[in-house]
Amino acid sequence: MNQVYEKLQNCFKSVREKTDFIPEVALILGSGLGEYAEEIEVAATIDYKDIEGFPVSTVAGHKGRFIFGYVNKVPVVIMQGRVHYYEGYPMTDVVLPTRLMGLLGAKTLLLTNASGGVNKEYKPGDFMLIKDHIASFVPSPLIGENIEELGARFPDMSDIYRKELRAIIKEAAKEEGVDLREGVYMQLSGPAYESPAEVQMCRILGADAVGMSTACEALAANHMGMKVCGISCITNMACGITDQPLSHAEVQETADRVASLFKKLITASVTKLGER
Ligand code: HPA
Repeated sequence: MNQVYEKLQNCFKSVREKTDFIPEVALILGSGLGEYAEEIEVAATIDYKDIEGFPVSTVAGHKGRFIFGYVNKVPVVIMQGRVHYYEGYPMTDVVLPTRLMGLLGAKTLLLTNASGGVNKEYKPGDFMLIKDHIASFVPSPLIGENIEELGARFPDMSDIYRKELRAIIKEAAKEEGVDLREGVYMQLSGPAYESPAEVQMCRILGADAVGMSTACEALAANHMGMKVCGISCITNMACGITDQPLSHAEVQETADRVASLFKKLITASVTKLGER
C-alpha cells in the first residue's frame, strides 16, 4: 500500500478505536481562533498525541486535539490547532488531519486562518471569505504516487472554495450582521513573515491576503471530493503596508478582539452548512 495512505489508515483506525462519531462538517481553527471549540456541545475529544503516527503541532497558542460534537445539532469535528509546513513536516503530513476528517465522514470542510492583509482596502479585524487561492509557492501535498482511493491524479481546481458554500456563508454573515470581504488567499511557507517586496509580489499576483496554511489543506480536501470553504481573519496588515513591525502578539491580539464576532459567524455558517 502507498505509505502515505497506510499512515492515514493507521490514524483512522486509531481514532475509530476511541470514537464512532461521524461528523458532517469539519472545521479547522486558525491561530488565535482555537477558543471557538470551547463553545460547542462536546461528544468526544482526542489529543493528537494519542493518535499513532499523527503529526503534532509545535506552535505556541495552538492546541493539539480533535473535538467531536454538535453545533446546533450539526455533527462536527473540530481541529483545535493545525499542522504547518514550516514546522518541518512533509506536506503529506500537513494534510493528513484534513484527509482523516474526510475519511471519518465529513463531507464539508470549513477552513479558518489568521492572515496578513495584502489588499490595501482591508483593515485588521476584517473577515475575508476565501474565493480562491494561490498555492504555487509551496509544494503540493499531492506530489508523489497518487492515492487512487482518495481521488484523481489530476484533480479539477475550478471551484475549490465552492460557490454554493460561499453563498451560504454570505447569507449567514448577513443575518448575523458581520461584514465579510471576499478575496484570494496566498499561501507562503513561513515561518518568517513576508518582506515588503514579497507582499508587493503577492499583491501584483492577485492576492488579497497572505498566510502560512490553508491552501494545501483545501487542495487535499478538494482532491478527495470534500466540499471546501474558508474564512480568513485579517489580523494585521501584511509587512510594508504600514511602518509597524509585525509580531505574533499582534496577530493574537486582533484574533482575541474579534473572537466573539468570529464565533457568531462560524456558528451561523456551520448551522447553515449542516442544513443543506
Ligand atoms: N503573514 C503571514 N501569515 C500571517 C500573517 C502575515 O502577515 N498574519 C497572520 N498570519
